[in-house]
Amino acid sequence: MKIFVQSLFLLLLLSNLVFAQNKSVEKKIDDLLKQMTLDEKIGQLNQYSGDNKATGPVNFKGDHQEMIKAGKIGSMLNILGSKYTRQYQEAAMQSRLKIPLLFGLDVIHGYKTTFPIPLGEAASWDLEAMEKSARISAIEASSAGIHWTFAPMVDIGRDPRWGRVMEGAGEDTYLGSKIAYARVKGFQGNGLGHTDAVMACAKHFAAYGAAVGGRDYNSVDMSERQLWETYLPPFKATIDAGVATFMNSFNDLNGIPATGNKYLQRDILKSKWNYQGFIVSDWGSIREMIAHGYSKDLSEAALQALTTGNDMDMESSAYHNHLAKLISDKKVPIELVDDAVRRILRKKFELGLFDDPYKFSNPVREQKELNNPAHREFAREIAKKSIVLLKNEKQTLPISRNTKTIAMIGPMAKVTKDNHGFWAVDIPELDYDKFVVTQFDGVKSHLGKATNLLYEKGCDIDCKSNEGFAKAVETAKKADVVILSVGERWNQSGEAKSRSNIHLPGMQEELIKAVKATGKPVVVLINAGRPLVFDWTADNADAILYTWWLGTEAGNAIADVLFGDYNPSGKLPMTFPRSEGQIPIYYNNFNTGRPARDENATNYVSAYIDLKNSPKFAFGYGLSYTDFKYSDLKFDKKKMRENERIEVSLNVTNTGKYSGEEVVQLYLRDKVASVVRPVKELKDFQKIKLNAGETKTVKFMIEKEKLSFYNAQLNWVAEAGEFDLMIGSSSADIRLKDIFELVK
Ligand code: NOJ
Repeated sequence: MKIFVQSLFLLLLLSNLVFAQNKSVEKKIDDLLKQMTLDEKIGQLNQYSGDNKATGPVNFKGDHQEMIKAGKIGSMLNILGSKYTRQYQEAAMQSRLKIPLLFGLDVIHGYKTTFPIPLGEAASWDLEAMEKSARISAIEASSAGIHWTFAPMVDIGRDPRWGRVMEGAGEDTYLGSKIAYARVKGFQGNGLGHTDAVMACAKHFAAYGAAVGGRDYNSVDMSERQLWETYLPPFKATIDAGVATFMNSFNDLNGIPATGNKYLQRDILKSKWNYQGFIVSDWGSIREMIAHGYSKDLSEAALQALTTGNDMDMESSAYHNHLAKLISDKKVPIELVDDAVRRILRKKFELGLFDDPYKFSNPVREQKELNNPAHREFAREIAKKSIVLLKNEKQTLPISRNTKTIAMIGPMAKVTKDNHGFWAVDIPELDYDKFVVTQFDGVKSHLGKATNLLYEKGCDIDCKSNEGFAKAVETAKKADVVILSVGERWNQSGEAKSRSNIHLPGMQEELIKAVKATGKPVVVLINAGRPLVFDWTADNADAILYTWWLGTEAGNAIADVLFGDYNPSGKLPMTFPRSEGQIPIYYNNFNTGRPARDENATNYVSAYIDLKNSPKFAFGYGLSYTDFKYSDLKFDKKKMRENERIEVSLNVTNTGKYSGEEVVQLYLRDKVASVVRPVKELKDFQKIKLNAGETKTVKFMIEKEKLSFYNAQLNWVAEAGEFDLMIGSSSADIRLKDIFELVK
């Protein structure tokens, strides 16, 4: 009792302290706002791109430094390094009110040390690991003067033609929300104000992932139900994690550009979710409302963006050029400007920049953190966990270290930049060829003198000619096993990298066929930023590892898996189609009135007459070098009321000879509801580790939340009735099934 009272007291004290701190920040903002001229206020709302590589089309003509000194810029992006951020901050310190600048950067999967692309990391289903990779990214970036990363991207991606799926967590809302939460926690660490924490940014608000045809920047048209049920929850999860900022998106949503969308920004985000952080536009997205045909000119675009809740203008110069007049014309109330400025200043106070504007620009810390060996070690760790074993015939993998001759073939075997993938930070002074471990070097360092390692490129990534195939075939013939590394160039997935054809580039698959024709066992490594189509390879290769773009330690991590030092445990976070014609394809679709129960039936059922409905590889799929048996499904009860929970347990046994990890996935289906429900939905999962022969009991709790959905009136409800419970190793490999009931 005493302890309880003491902790209650402590809690109260703490919350009072936080309240007092908040109050004092708000008071400081009030004081500052009173001193600010209108120009200075507008200045806080402008963000421009600096000297490092621009990440969008530049319209700005002028002198940033002069503008900063005049208090006309509140934030810069694409400035990096303690030296340069300090220089810019020094300019801000020459402005009348000395309001510090915010430095933003796309730190998407690492700063100097790169981790797998976010979609790759999502395949690890390891939330702790993803939080840690964001943590390390923040430690490195903040030491180089960065205050703010434009991550995580939490857009649900159901269309692999869309190049930006590489930047997200895949197709599933449940998994995506968990990952969104973990990443924000990782970036923001122990909270803003700590020198190793950066502000996270939930983007792109909202529904950008549903761009029509998978074409980047395209329109989005979707039902309210789909918006609320599938696309918004990961954003809500970032708020629950305390995300500091939001970025809106390029797309229009049902006819209204997101950047000028009151419903999204004011009604949902700032009112319903009571969000206190600020919203930055996407690059030039205020100006782009003119091209959308929504604003007649830049002045109207500024009016529409600000009044609907967009606080900061990235690169459009709309606020800079037009806001003052809009205010004097009484078109924009000054209170709205004050609110936007307040939101931005609040973050500057929380970061501690008013106490020490240079606190993040510390060359000593920068040197130390950018060369911290623990970061590389972890990069290897998470890269291993992100690899997905798609196929392993006759136990081709792992490869024995006693193999006499191994041939490494293919355009990706010796790449460096392509291991990094899209959205790797371009640090000008870094020699990536030395910094990134190639797959060839990774394999080589795993082998002793007894093994002969051969190499032949075959063709380059575009693989437009088969000239090099003969040499590749000759090399393959000399080997006992071939490792064939293919895939996408670093800039074939990413922003503005939509592809209508998502097959392996050029003649890469022809190269695989030629090498396979030698009769040698062929292990294919597929490096890519999205699910690709590779039907022939999937059917004919002996083993396939999907390696995404794994980052700095790609080569070592891949070799760890190839030689069995690590047993692969990744599971696909996105469905892999058989052909582009199936897109969009995702596991949690609705049933139709004429479902094709038999894969080959086409007559009067919902099917293609020229292709199966099923994907090539399903969401949640991924093999291991060992096997797992699922058994003994038990319920503590079969009926629950809304305020009750059902405990479900099952046993998982490792029946193979390697220790390994399995992601046990729980799916539910509401059998009959007032609106149509998906055929299954992921509602929980656990990643467990089992030694050979070991059995573990896995427990899941089913509570009302997991049974709830948006009804016709868009209320979040759980309806009485039966639910299918499905537990499996992937969405298509359900091992245990039963039914339970919600009673009212
Ligand atoms: C445009 C991208 O859509 C966004 O995600 C990114 O953060 C900005 N450019 C800044 O580079």
